[in-house]
Parts: sequence; structure tokens; C-alpha cells
Amino acid sequence: MCGIVGYVGNRNATPIIIEGIKRLEYRGYDSAGIAIINKEHELKIFKEAGKIIDLERSLPAPNETSGNIGIAHTRWATHGEPTTTNAHPHTNCCNTIALIHNGIIENYKILRKKLEAEDHIFVSETDTEVLTHLIGHFYREENNLLLAVQEALKLVEGAYGIAIICSDFPDQIIAARKGSPLILGIGKNEFFVASDVSAIIIHTKRVIYLQDNEIVTVNKNNFEITTINNKIVTAKVSEIDWDVSSIEKGEYKHFMLKEIFEQPKSVGNAFRGRLIPELSTTRLGGLGLTEEELRQVERLHIIACGTSWHAALIGKNIIEGLARIPVEVEYASEYRYRNPIIPDNTVVFVISQSGETADTLAALREAKSKGARVFGITNVVGSTIARESDGGVYIHAGTEIGVASTKALTSQVTVLSLLAVLLGRMRNLSSTYGTTFIEELIKIPEKIQRILDNNEEIKKIAGTIKDSTNALYLGRGVNYPIALEGALKLKEISYIHAEGYPAAEMKHGPIALIDKNMPVIVIALKDVIYDKIVSNLEEVKARKGRIITIATEGDETIKDISENVIYIPQTINVLQPLLSVIPLQLLAYHVADLRNLDVDQPRNLAKSVTVE
Ligand code: G6P
Repeated sequence: MCGIVGYVGNRNATPIIIEGIKRLEYRGYDSAGIAIINKEHELKIFKEAGKIIDLERSLPAPNETSGNIGIAHTRWATHGEPTTTNAHPHTNCCNTIALIHNGIIENYKILRKKLEAEDHIFVSETDTEVLTHLIGHFYREENNLLLAVQEALKLVEGAYGIAIICSDFPDQIIAARKGSPLILGIGKNEFFVASDVSAIIIHTKRVIYLQDNEIVTVNKNNFEITTINNKIVTAKVSEIDWDVSSIEKGEYKHFMLKEIFEQPKSVGNAFRGRLIPELSTTRLGGLGLTEEELRQVERLHIIACGTSWHAALIGKNIIEGLARIPVEVEYASEYRYRNPIIPDNTVVFVISQSGETADTLAALREAKSKGARVFGITNVVGSTIARESDGGVYIHAGTEIGVASTKALTSQVTVLSLLAVLLGRMRNLSSTYGTTFIEELIKIPEKIQRILDNNEEIKKIAGTIKDSTNALYLGRGVNYPIALEGALKLKEISYIHAEGYPAAEMKHGPIALIDKNMPVIVIALKDVIYDKIVSNLEEVKARKGRIITIATEGDETIKDISENVIYIPQTINVLQPLLSVIPLQLLAYHVADLRNLDVDQPRNLAKSVTVE
């Protein structure tokens, strides 16, 4: 989704803000632009459809783009095609104000009509341009830019993170947020605004997370935060506790590959300090719930989108199995609009890697408005979902840059399994099981590493299916959501159509698709339903489907019905997804890479979907 960066200080703004938006490329975008105010106090705008590199190539000589203040934007098209005209920044009629925006202005049509009636001339199809003209309108009336921004934002429905510069105030940025993330970075005699910490972390680790309806006015020496109603706000400065190496690829070809390979560590980080072996249970202090309150939980709702939703499905299976508490899993986009029934003693969990997904945030607010206690399972510290939840659990996976989520899923599942044991041990789960769980969980990082060591073999198998046009993924029980996730990974980055199914469901439809060209990727691990799934495999083989099996180490017989087998180590059933997903991530990665596709920035996708 769109990215925002702004700089004011003593240095030349242009290279800083361009570098900043490059750090946000991973979020997904289709055009980019910058605005600077030069030494002659002129506002200059440069924008281009396509990649940031295209924008850089189109820039005039450095002396024409230099200035100590600037804003930059990457746009992911919502209203209007990804053209240069629709790219941000947008300006008011007299080209004195430049504005960049993340989010959607929902009432833009009405506002645009009114402004057009007052002789404002629009050049783009965007919702954003309305904001620029609206601020321009109030600025003309009030002659006070901050007041004009406040008045304009009061009329706006929807979500925004914005940054504005104006040639009448050549050393000042105004930025505001409602619904879309925005931070102020504090340097020495310089400040930054950004939609994401990664854009500015090479310059400063001291940040303020703006809250909804807050506006910051900043020059190179100081800043002031007010609300939309002009009340002064005292904000807390936070220190970022990770460094720039976590947002660099290092020795890896792509971020996605790096993140897949980080999983032994990231899974370990998700359970470190959260196991209590002497009591055969776990602790999740961030929930802030007493034992009494945890015992009273009668039902869970887990809400999420995308890969996080797959983690939720796995969580349902594990929590219902171990804690015997009914769990409903729902897409956030559905939950928010369907007036969900939330009985007493139901707790709601929202899962979001970014902590900013618009639908998940809206679902959280919907559940809270109905009186439910809502907990977040998030990765990004200080994200909106983390802040708005009643409590939560950070997964501590480290920054995830690849659009196709990998390490976030395994960390989310780890946390959900800790939750299952925590709730289970307060109910009927035996201490023997609790102990086995802890012993097995501790071994998972090393087992993931063993699968990763098989990367070259998995790459070879990827070569055998790279030219396919379709693929089917099958799994059962706790591995059924992994089949969904495997299919999602493949389609996201390789653009091969893929579907995931519960293996036995195949004969109710998808079996019609199976022929000698159809790769069927099956998770068939040695557990209670192993024999059933082998029967499903036979059905595929009888129709000449090309079977790739994810099997348990030592299972030699599975080779007879498979074209290729990828072995994974044995573990207890509830932890299997942490292993079975790894080869599917690698398989999707290599297929996309062998097809020479842009693995980290697949077409049309965004890392963090901050619009509905
Ligand atoms: C986007 C990303 C997915 C991600 C989903 C949910 O679609 O491309 O990788 O799973 O959003 O994101 P969240 O940050 O809420 O987990």
C-alpha cells in the first residue's frame, strides 16, 4: 500500500526521501512522486508512473531538485489508474500546497462537487486531490495553514495519513493521521515523517507514533502535536529496538528467502520466556488476564486476513483440541459487517503481522464496541492494532518485508499453540501432555533447520512444476490450513492458479481437474489419518496426477505413489504445521524465482492492506 516519507532539516531532502520510499517498496506500489521546496522557496513536484527508479531517472539535475524540505510518496492505486497524473503529491489550484496521502477519502465525490462549484479545477481522478483543494479553500479563508488542515480534516470521512508542505512556510511540514499509520522521527536538528519505521531507521531510532486525529507541525528545530480540535498533545517518544540489518537482504537473493531461512530463530523468539516446564504450561503475560479470567473464557473468536487467517484456522484446530474451547474463525472483512454475535465470556483475538490491516482493525473496533475484550497477536510493536487491543502477544518475528508472509505465520502458530496449552492446562489437559508439548516445541527450530538444509532438493522439485498453469494442495486436520497456505504462496508470487482443499473433499469436485499435467501437493504425515490420506493419494495417482508429497522422515512406502517426496521430521500433531509449511514456502519461492518473477513485490499485491 501507499508509503509516506518526509524530511525537514539541514541536509538535501531529495536523496533522503527517495531512499526512504525505496525502503517502503516492499509494501507494494505502482507510481511514485516527490515534492520539495527549493532555496528560492519554490514548490517543485516530480512524479512518475511505475517504479521509483523511473522517477529517479526522470528527475532533472541535482541542483534543480535540492532543498532542505521534501515529501515523497509511493501510490498503490485505488481511485484512478496508476498514471503520472494520479500519482502523489497533489497540489491546490495555485500550486502552493503539496500533499501526499495514504488511505481513502470516502466522501470525496460530494466534496469534489462542492469544490468544483467554487471554481477549483481538478486534474486527477483521485480521492486525494480533494484534500489538497479543501485545505487550499480553508487556507484562502483563514490564512492559517494549520487551522486550514484542521478544518478540512473535520469534513473528511474515511482514513488518512497525510503530509503537507506549502511554499508560504518553506521550513515546515504538517502531517496528520486517522486510520493510517504515521510516525514522527526525531533526529538532531532534523525531523522525519513516515508511514513505516523502515523508511527512516537509518537516520533515527527515536519516534513518536501519532494517534488518530492528531496533527504534527514540524520544522527543523522543533515540533508541536495538536488534535484536530486544536488541543495540544504531549506525546511519548519511543525507541525502536531493531536495527537496519533486519531490513536488508544480506546474502539472500530475496527478502522472502531470507525470511524463510530466519524461521528457526523467529519461532524460537516466539516461545522464548513463555514456557513454564515445572508446571507443564505456558505464560502469555501481555494478555494481562488473571488466572480466574482465563478460566472463565468460554468461547474464542479469531479474526484475521490472508496468511494470518490461515494461522487462525490452525489455531482453532489446536485450541479446540487441547483446551476444548469452541473457536470461531472469520475473515475480518466479513466479521466487521455482519453484526457478529459475541456471547458473554467470549474473548476475541485479532491476528495481524503488520498490525495495520484496515479490515482487521475495523473488526477489532466492532468487537470492542459490542463490549468484547479484544487481544492482538501482532508483529509490529506500536502498530495500531497492538495499541487498540486490550492486551496481546507480540510474535517477535522481526521485520517481515517479503509481501508473501512466511515467518509471521510460523510465529503466529507458535503463539496460538502456547495459548492452547495455557487455556488447556487450566481445564482438562494433562501435565504429561503439557510436558510433551514443551519438549517438542523446543525441538522445532532445529527441525525447521533440517528442512531448510534440504533447500537444493526442493528447488529441483520446483523445477518440475514451474511451467504448470494450475496446482492443487491437499491436507487434512491441522495440515488442511497449510494446504490453503501453500496454494496461497504459490499463486501470490508465481501467478500459477492454485487451490487448497481438505484431501477427502477432493472427490467432491477438484478431482475433475486431475490429469497428467496437474501437480498435486499433498501433506501426508504419519499420524492418525495417514491411511486415509494415502487413499486420497491413490485416487490422484489413478488419474495420473503428478504427486509431490510432504512426508514424515522414514516413510519409504509413500515413494511408491509419489513423483517426488519431501521429508520433514516427526513431531506431535499440533506442531506439525510449523514444519509442513516450510517446504511449501520454499517450493513457491523457487517456482516464482525460476519463472524470473519479482518475488518480493508480486504484481498488484501489498504487504499491508490499509484500505478496505
Ligand atoms: C496482505 C499481505 C499478506 C498478509 C495479509 C494480512 O494481503 O500480502 O501477506 O497475510 O495482508 O496482513 P496482516 O499484516 O494483517 O497479517
